[in-house]
Amino acid sequence: MLKDRIALVTAAGSGIGRAGAVAMAREGAFVVVTDLNTDLAAQTLALIVAAGGKGEARTLDVRDDAAIEAEVERILRDHGRIDILHSHAGIQIPGKLEEVSGAQMDAAWALNVRAHFVLSRAVIAPMRAQGGGSVIVTASNSGCQFDRGMISYATTKHAAVAMVKQMAAD
Ligand SMILES: NC(=O)c1ccc[n+]([C@@H]2O[C@H](COP(=O)([O-])OP(=O)(O)OC[C@H]3O[C@@H](n4cnc5c(N)ncnc54)[C@H](O)[C@@H]3O)[C@@H](O)[C@H]2O)c1
Repeated sequence: MLKDRIALVTAAGSGIGRAGAVAMAREGAFVVVTDLNTDLAAQTLALIVAAGGKGEARTLDVRDDAAIEAEVERILRDHGRIDILHSHAGIQIPGKLEEVSGAQMDAAWALNVRAHFVLSRAVIAPMRAQGGGSVIVTASNSGCQFDRGMISYATTKHAAVAMVKQMAAD
């Protein structure tokens, strides 16, 4: 399905990000496996290569706007296009209103909303120029429903869903 597509995945060193990266490589994509943790990204790449797939492992902290922009520019330089962004990195901080600090709410917002915005913003111009592409943002069932004692998580995941719907409408 994805033969020779260029895919960028964030937080691909573990969990759902890793599973998505492996699945896209299995379908023929060249996967840029990124994670805050360099070793975990390398482990995901090893799984991809062992299964006969293609990709590269890169360190990327999605809280760093300049690093995101530099990585997208590098992908365009090295591969000529970017077909898929799976913006996956996120954080779940438990707690009710009186239990979550302002700093924790900021941390949730930075990963669960702002980073998806910065990443999507970085890829949209090259995707438009090449005639298409896919932006995939990981939200949660907490982006459609509500979880008890999860104010930062439910709020930011709802915002992620709203932002992607707005992107699609625009
Ligand atoms: N696991 C679930 O059941 C579940 C359900 C719904 C949604 N999600 C969402 O999936 C995402 C991650 O979940 P997971 O289960 O795959 O996580 P995980 O804990 O298995 O992996 C998280 C990965 O994120 C990386 N990471 C942490 N901070 C980072 C940063 N600043 N920049 C780049 N990478 C960073 C870590 O190094 C790690 O490899 C979150 O958005 C979460 O809300 C998970």
